[in-house]
Amino acid sequence: IPVEPFDLVVFGGTGDLARSKILPALFRRSVAGQVPEGGRIIGVARQDMGVEAYHALIAQSLRELLPDLAQVPGALDRFLKQLDYVALDATQPEGWEQLASMLGQGVRAFYFSVGPGLFGALAERLRQHGLVSDDTRIVVEKPFGHDLASARALNATLAAQFHERQIYRIDHYLGKETVQNLMAVRFGNMLFEPLWNSQYVDHIQITVAEAVGVGGRADYYDRAGAMRDMMQNHLMQLLCLIAMEPPAKFDPDAVRDEKLKVIRALDAVKPHHIVRGQYAVPVGGVGQGYRDEVGDPRSITESYIALRAHISNWRWAGTPFYLRTGKRLVARSSVINVMFKDAPHSIFGEEAGRHANVLSIRLQPNEGITLKVTIKEPGPGGMRLVDVPLDMSFAKALGPENQSPPDAYERLIMDVIRGNQTLFMRGDEVEAAWAWTDPIIAGWQARGDVPKPYDCGSTGPGDAELLMRRDGRRWQGIN
Ligand code: BG6
Repeated sequence: IPVEPFDLVVFGGTGDLARSKILPALFRRSVAGQVPEGGRIIGVARQDMGVEAYHALIAQSLRELLPDLAQVPGALDRFLKQLDYVALDATQPEGWEQLASMLGQGVRAFYFSVGPGLFGALAERLRQHGLVSDDTRIVVEKPFGHDLASARALNATLAAQFHERQIYRIDHYLGKETVQNLMAVRFGNMLFEPLWNSQYVDHIQITVAEAVGVGGRADYYDRAGAMRDMMQNHLMQLLCLIAMEPPAKFDPDAVRDEKLKVIRALDAVKPHHIVRGQYAVPVGGVGQGYRDEVGDPRSITESYIALRAHISNWRWAGTPFYLRTGKRLVARSSVINVMFKDAPHSIFGEEAGRHANVLSIRLQPNEGITLKVTIKEPGPGGMRLVDVPLDMSFAKALGPENQSPPDAYERLIMDVIRGNQTLFMRGDEVEAAWAWTDPIIAGWQARGDVPKPYDCGSTGPGDAELLMRRDGRRWQGIN
């Protein structure tokens, strides 16, 4: 879908996120012909460098990250022609006029790809220097606060300068292709919705496993941990989309109202329903564990978390939601498994075993959806039952061109330009998510809780298996 000409200003334009996600996403859209001529993309940072030096920096990142696209004749030149640079310190009065002079009359988006400590200064200066029009949007990244109090303060800072309809809080999980497909599957089919409740669903598992460790983000991560870094936002958003009531329309407030109701209906999590873990080098193994990577031999930050959540409403009373996420696990694999109940009675007798349907929604890798159904094992051996997958992997069903759907950032940035907030978090949602998270973290602090070590390359701490086994259930494999 074409978009109007726009100007996009990226504060933190030389930073990691700008180079690894934002500008590559814009470059891909540019190659796809979706960045109209006449619009400008302007990197802003404190470094005193000319536009040529900025072009060289960005071109290098693009060549590394998107080698094939960077080789498309003329593509990189065309993109760089639309890319400018302004050196400016958000806390100082200089440089803003120059920035203002570069902006056109159309849609303006200001991407705050900087620490939240600068949001206030940026928002004020943009107003002060007359850069804000009705068609102005600002984009902010997670972490949106560190707890409820800081998230409220951030919301208030932004609300002092912008309307809520101008604020786009990114959770890049909402931009993932399969996450949206989840809504299409739920609300575009007759088949699933009647069964989507505690009467037919035994439980739901949400797994976001990563193979990577904390890498170069040790400073940030060691203060955040998996609860703040992943659970409060990405997993919470997945939970909302799985559990919410059908919104009346696919429009921003209708969808976000329903998500908010889910978060507010979450019970407090009981301490014995949470497992925290921290990766370590297996005995006799080589490499670095979490504490080596963050350079603190006594760190008690969790790099893994598994918990059992309950949603107290009519639809879900009695259906547990098991959520887990961790780093340095056996594989990168994000999957939501909707585990249906067994058939109430087996006409095939005990020996046919138990066969429950499972709907697996795979976010990454191999995006797609699989439904495990029970059929008769082929052959003359009598009525033996076997489970087979009804496979809706995108690449198979829709052709190889759908093997790598657009990156979440491409979709989300274009949604900002179009003015569509459906896939962005509203201020009250973020606050409600912190209100659920804060007491959990406060409980650990009060009890001096220490995360359980787990081996790098494993499926996480053994206690996470116990959490399930105590309930007579098992995690689906990570692969
Ligand atoms: C980020 C977290 O929001 O999401 C990271 O801060 C995490 O710690 C990343 O690695 C995972 O994103 P993806 O898209 O690779 O699953």
